[in-house]
Amino acid sequence: MSAIDIANLRTLFPAAAEGLYLDAAHQTPLSLPVRAGLDAFYDQALNTAGPKKRWLARVEEVRGRLAAFLGAGPHEIAFTKNTSEGLNIAAHGLRWEPGDNVLLLEGEHPNVAYAWLNRRPQGLEVRMVPQDRAKKWADADTFAPYLDARTRVIALSHVMFHSGQRNDVAGISQLARRHGSEVVVDAMQAVGILEVNARALGVSALASGCHKGLLVPQGLGLLYTPYETEMLRPTYMALAGVANPDEHIVVGAGNVEPRTDAQRFEIGNFNLPAIHALGAALDLIEGVGVSDIERHVLDLGDQLIAHLDALGIGLTGPVEREHRSHIHVLDLPGPWWADFLAAEGLRVSPVREGIRVSFGLYNNADDVDRLADVLRRGLRKIAHRAA
Ligand SMILES: Cc1ncc(COP(=O)(O)O)c(C=O)c1O
Repeated sequence: MSAIDIANLRTLFPAAAEGLYLDAAHQTPLSLPVRAGLDAFYDQALNTAGPKKRWLARVEEVRGRLAAFLGAGPHEIAFTKNTSEGLNIAAHGLRWEPGDNVLLLEGEHPNVAYAWLNRRPQGLEVRMVPQDRAKKWADADTFAPYLDARTRVIALSHVMFHSGQRNDVAGISQLARRHGSEVVVDAMQAVGILEVNARALGVSALASGCHKGLLVPQGLGLLYTPYETEMLRPTYMALAGVANPDEHIVVGAGNVEPRTDAQRFEIGNFNLPAIHALGAALDLIEGVGVSDIERHVLDLGDQLIAHLDALGIGLTGPVEREHRSHIHVLDLPGPWWADFLAAEGLRVSPVREGIRVSFGLYNNADDVDRLADVLRRGLRKIAHRAA
């Protein structure tokens, strides 16, 4: 039983209570507790010009909580700006030789693809792995035919933004390990919504932003890298990432040793307001329990799929509960539906092959029924026009 009742959560998200907000995969609306976390930070800044020592202690406290939330240790978590920064740290920090290759799924999020495509001039081969159209999610079998002795990395999204498919990252990591390859995962669409245990996934790097499942406004990200490996070298270096800074921070010409923990990837000052907000967001998420959030969004998905079946509307992604997420892409191509739904006041995202409907902890069964009513009206309109 959750400490916070999921049915009452909605009141904490005014924008979700106001309209029909079905766009968690784009961004989640700000909640009152996260706003309070930001306000508390700004009040301190306003009134005291900054108790920086306390703020930095709070950074470490939030780092520890985030690490535990991801099944990791605090020394395995770096704060970044967003997912892309974490993915680029991996693409630049991993050792590889010209002629080595990286495997990417066709249709990947641009921020996964560009991080590696940008390494091609240095000799990295990028191999695009086709998505199995019948299966609609990726596992070890998807990648195995494309992997060889020169495969250094498999890079993929845990949950894919354009289909909602949940890829079998743990199975893909096992395949990669057997071949001496690494796995770099973009968990932006999974963290805070699905249970994510970074160590259990067996990846070498896991990157995410915090503005979707983690409920914080844009501008904060995280990078997990397992401590014992140190397989990623930092590309940039600033005081925060140095293991042996001079006591008086006078820098000579001696050797610069990067820290051994994930903080070697951190440069300069932190996004302090966002980290304070993340502390408040973790209170909220853990008060509900991420396993309950996962069950809740999948239940809403079951309900949606039943409606879609009755309406004759397909999904572009998988329908099996274990292979889907909070994201559903309705097979409603073309601009007509996007315009119609926007005119009906729905917040959804048109993506590639259809209309993306994505649930957050604040959505409820009534939202799904209301969506089905709007879809039914849309179908009637189309039938009417055709008649
Ligand atoms: C899978 C995935 N990765 C990354 C991002 C965003 O990247 P960033 O956090 O760097 O802005 C998104 C969506 O915003 C996404 O859906």
